[in-house]
Amino acid sequence: MTTPIPLSLPDITQREVDAVVDALWSNTLSIGPRIEQFERRCAEVAGRRFAVGVSSGTAGLHCAMLAEGIGPGDEVITTSFSFVASANCILFVGAKPVFVDIDPRTLNMDLGKIESAITKQTRAIVAVETFGHPGGMVELELLARKHGLTLIEDCCEGFGGRIDQRPIGSFGQAGIFGFHPNKQITTGEGGMIVTDDETFADSCRALRNQGREGTAWLSHQRLGYNYRLGELNAALGLAQVGRLDEILENRRRVANTYMRRLMTNRCLILPTLDEHELVSWFVFVVRLNDLFSPANRDQILGDLRDEGIGCNNYFPPIHLQPYMIERFGFAPGVLPVTEYVAARTIALPFFSQMTERQVMRVCDTLEQLLEKTLIKPNSRF
Ligand SMILES: Cc1ncc(COP(=O)(O)O)c(C=O)c1O
Repeated sequence: MTTPIPLSLPDITQREVDAVVDALWSNTLSIGPRIEQFERRCAEVAGRRFAVGVSSGTAGLHCAMLAEGIGPGDEVITTSFSFVASANCILFVGAKPVFVDIDPRTLNMDLGKIESAITKQTRAIVAVETFGHPGGMVELELLARKHGLTLIEDCCEGFGGRIDQRPIGSFGQAGIFGFHPNKQITTGEGGMIVTDDETFADSCRALRNQGREGTAWLSHQRLGYNYRLGELNAALGLAQVGRLDEILENRRRVANTYMRRLMTNRCLILPTLDEHELVSWFVFVVRLNDLFSPANRDQILGDLRDEGIGCNNYFPPIHLQPYMIERFGFAPGVLPVTEYVAARTIALPFFSQMTERQVMRVCDTLEQLLEKTLIKPNSRF
């Protein structure tokens, strides 16, 4: 068996190891200088005034909902084509997620379908830059402003990207980054809220720190959480963000190698690239064309894994997850574009250290499987 190729891999060098070891020797393992430094660097990357480090992207989204005072009786518009946390943060505060179908080109919410989803109860929009793709954010910000809605940017997948020279994370009231090990840069577990609103930033700071608003450890001004980012995690994040350009450049190189190799394959739909966007590559997701059924896709995922190639179905629609069906009674067909796209995606191995040889092996194997699927007697044609 040839060496497996994982779906994702963090980019850890001696620099990261040294940074974490130094933090360990400092004996300050929680709430220390590294968190503040990492926050400042993230604010710079996002072009924001304030940044608040948190224990995960999910925690950051939850704090943003609370700091905006969103709660029972409110509706929040979002996408179903995302990781569940994008919608769960709305449920955490007792509000109702309203899913808008996606644009098949950008895979973000379809801008033409948002206005008809707005009701008297709508308070906010949680907009996801799917797979790091910022398409539509400029227009969405204008639309939110026009309707007096809070825009929260779930940019967990887009650290370091840009659109029209504006950094990802700079749209609306706040942006939330995620630093899970599958992301562009990692803190192990962690996230970052970025905003220009000082009151909002202060609320998030209190919410992540058990409701403390001052320095007194046992004085709690409000109900809060332990959503703090640890000092070791921040040390890792600082080392990673110090190498951001190098990491993003390497990811771009891998994405370009995939693009060049698969561009002529007529079975596949490749990620869309727009000239005015600088995509910060999170994953490399291809889609099967109409000749393939959802069952074909699942078979190909299984076969790729059998060949030692990491892959996944990013993302099954949130509205069709069992807990969502149980709570809201969603049935297949309510979001046709989301469901169609989601049934045909294949996330291929993608990480900054991936070699050209590994990309070629993935593509050769994928093409053999596509061919085998199309000529099988029980395929759709
Ligand atoms: C779009 C999106 N939102 C939210 C999250 C949640 O981030 P975390 O895993 O750090 O809680 C993720 C992470 O996978 C994500 O991709």
